[in-house]
Amino acid sequence: MQNRTIEIKYKQYPSPDALPAEERQLLEKAIQATSTAYSPYSHFCVGAAVLLANGTTVTGSNQENVAYPSGLCAERTAMFAASAQYPKVPMRKIAIVGKNADGELCAATPCGACRQVMSEYQDVAGENIEIILYSEGGTVLLFDGIDSLLPLRFSF
Ligand code: THU
Repeated sequence: MQNRTIEIKYKQYPSPDALPAEERQLLEKAIQATSTAYSPYSHFCVGAAVLLANGTTVTGSNQENVAYPSGLCAERTAMFAASAQYPKVPMRKIAIVGKNADGELCAATPCGACRQVMSEYQDVAGENIEIILYSEGGTVLLFDGIDSLLPLRFSF
């Protein structure tokens, strides 16, 4: 038996303004997408923006339903829309941000199901998908691929 450790590396930027231009613009689109959330039950809005290899951005937001499990997170709304509208175009980056009931931006780290979906599209893309997360205190975390957020992920 051996004790093993998995190390996760990521970058932390002090604010969205400190990000490189492409990441900053993608996060801005995710922030805008929070206003399209349909979240009458949680009152928590999430915005996601996916950058495709052809330069197109597809956004999504969380969509809730009175039959709770029928709703969908912002990340999967965005990724499924991107794959449905641009089926052969690889996804390169995704930015994610939350907005609480007081209208303040906050962290919305992706749930397990969204991570698994990212994992699949990263495999389809054949290149890592960069993940940009708005985080505590207005900082921004940058992960260079899904393995950082879903270690030992299931994939064929
Ligand atoms: N939600 C997302 O859309 N993405 C996340 O990363 C976390 C949670 C949504 C689901 C639900 O509509 C609301 O936020 C509260 O959980």
